Amino acid sequence: MSFRTTLHCAVIGNPIAHSRSPEIHHAFAKQCGLKVQYERMLADNNDFADHVRAFFAQGGKGMNVTVPFKEKAFALATQHSDQAQLAGAANTLWMQDGQLHACNTDGIGLVSDLTRLGFDPANKRVLLIGAGGAAKGVLLPLLNAGVAQLRIINRTAAKAEALVEQMTQHQADYASRLEAGDLQHIAGQWDIVINATSSSLTQQSPIAQPIAFTAHSLAYDMVYGPKPTPFMEACSSYGASQCADGLGMLVAQAAQSFQIWHGVLPDTTPVLNDLRQQITL
Ligand code: ATR
Repeated sequence: MSFRTTLHCAVIGNPIAHSRSPEIHHAFAKQCGLKVQYERMLADNNDFADHVRAFFAQGGKGMNVTVPFKEKAFALATQHSDQAQLAGAANTLWMQDGQLHACNTDGIGLVSDLTRLGFDPANKRVLLIGAGGAAKGVLLPLLNAGVAQLRIINRTAAKAEALVEQMTQHQADYASRLEAGDLQHIAGQWDIVINATSSSLTQQSPIAQPIAFTAHSLAYDMVYGPKPTPFMEACSSYGASQCADGLGMLVAQAAQSFQIWHGVLPDTTPVLNDLRQQITL
């Protein structure tokens, strides 16, 4: 029998059955000697807020939020981190002093995974493809990590331009490092190219022409799966020195949420290795 208090956590989304978050958080908890019970919660647009309120009213410690509720989670919270504020979306909720707090750990998760792969974004030239929710969530952490240049390109260029506008309104001196364009706007040599579009879900690469990579370069797809994505395959043929999918980002964003709720940052490596094995089995 254990005398440790059970810490109740959950991930809410729709669909949710596929979520790997429970096994990731249970593995972190084991590593840190905490007793965490982390469940999946299915919601719809009408009952999302009720589920969140009931969870915290019953003493829930922390909740992750996934598609399609990240914007709703942001709107429900009364306290927002800068990352959540700029993304207009939250993946991490917790209650503190009677207030619902929201953070977005996706971007810090990405930066931490890039660093794990040997590509600390500081002083790097970064090409970010996509201007939807996934791209928006990682802009501030990439800028804060000290990228030398960040060019956002998107099929609908106006959306990329709007993101640059929003970021420079937040902080004017970002302007010198930020650019926007359409998917043809790839001239230059890139250290890190990130696919934040949903194109991999339809087995396509968002880029149809060769990208120029530097000698030590990384192509990173935020999507993950058992095989390299079409984007990773295309970048490999264009000369990227390394390609990675987003499994490491998934584990790293979970580690950041875990730290917010439980005050300790777990080691992602063993958890990522286990997950990779399960996914490629
Ligand atoms: P998410 O929250 O996953 O970012 P989203 O907000 O719907 O989802 O955004 C999807 C992103 O993928 C957008 O940048 C979209 O481009 P548009 O803004 O032009 O729609 C991009 N996208 C989706 N399918 C694509 C494809 N086949 N090629 C290129 N970009 C694609």
